Amino acid sequence: MRQTMSTSQKDKVVIFDTTLRDGEQSPGATMSHSEKLEIAGLLDDMGVDIIEAGFPIASEGDFRAVSEIAKNARNSVICGLARANFGDIDRCWEAVKHAKQPRIHTFIGTSPLHRAIPNLTMDEMAERIHDTVSHARNLCDNVQWSPMDATRTEEDYLCRTVEIAIKAGATTINIPDTVGYTAPVESAELIRMLINKVPGADEIVFATHCHNDLGMATANSLAAVEGGARQIECTINGLGERAGNTALEEVVMALKVRGDIMPFSTGIDTTKLMNISRRVAAVSGFAVQYNKAIVGKNAFAHESGIHQDGMLKNAETFEIMRPEDVGLTETNIVMGKHSGRAALRSKLENLGFELGDNQLKDVFVRFKELADRKKEVFDDDLVALMRTTSDPE
Ligand code: KIV
Ligand code: ZN
Repeated sequence: MRQTMSTSQKDKVVIFDTTLRDGEQSPGATMSHSEKLEIAGLLDDMGVDIIEAGFPIASEGDFRAVSEIAKNARNSVICGLARANFGDIDRCWEAVKHAKQPRIHTFIGTSPLHRAIPNLTMDEMAERIHDTVSHARNLCDNVQWSPMDATRTEEDYLCRTVEIAIKAGATTINIPDTVGYTAPVESAELIRMLINKVPGADEIVFATHCHNDLGMATANSLAAVEGGARQIECTINGLGERAGNTALEEVVMALKVRGDIMPFSTGIDTTKLMNISRRVAAVSGFAVQYNKAIVGKNAFAHESGIHQDGMLKNAETFEIMRPEDVGLTETNIVMGKHSGRAALRSKLENLGFELGDNQLKDVFVRFKELADRKKEVFDDDLVALMRTTSDPE
């Protein structure tokens, strides 16, 4: 028997949405100014704690969008991204400072591959981290720092840079799995190690930011929470570079459905998930795959006879979440060649046709013939079928 815990008994996990920054960086996913404002409004309404609204130095358009989102935000913290230089950080602050609750997020690549790009020695990079985080903290009380490619950074150097960032005033330390390389056991262990080894770690919040190159972003994010992270960075529909980022709807629903083994709460109103998923798909032009967890067209759809029969008797037989919990009105019973007699009877009853057993037998044969020809049999097809069916009873 599952134990349920009240929200107050659970630790809160902060949801940081980066659909408008990391999501929009996905090739081809550019959104217009008004679309960004609309999505930010939906995220705010849904209870997202922190919205990463963009990368203000990247373009005039990004700067305007972040500033406008900052001015309009009601409850969410508004965050902007900045590289580790004063110009980026100043520009970011100019955009986010309008928010009731602004945050500056600054980052630098700390792994050997990433250190080679600006050609900095370890000591030079350490100094750069100190200077840029201190500069950000002088502007804003809420500063997040990320060692990009943290999961491929040498452990000692990662600890050293995290300690410097904390001492310089970072209030959140984000540990990005930039290339989706880590695995769940390692993800949990990395956060645990940082909390145990780095002086000052207990004063700040650790965040997890996972990419989905090996399809493990959701598992890695949840494992990081097990290890002590209390902020998950994610995007709607998992939109993001390459294979995407952790999908917000997946981590939020996993924590809701499996609170028995992961006793953490979020402030997300899950009944708003389906609507925002559809809006992000529409404005980004990235359609949601049919079998996508939580928000895919088939996530609450059943075609096979055994499943449909089970669902009609007790929805929990084949569903671990209620469709209403994610903003759908009902389970979708799809009529096709795998459907059984019970589903056909139920569907026809909903369409206003009461059938005796013999009549159902006859209609069922003709339904199967039709289903063999068509992928899906729609309500109109069933009505047409009934019109041409004689009543043998
Ligand atoms: O994936 C990544 O490393 C990032 C950082 C900028 C946080 O998106
Ligand atoms: Zn990222």
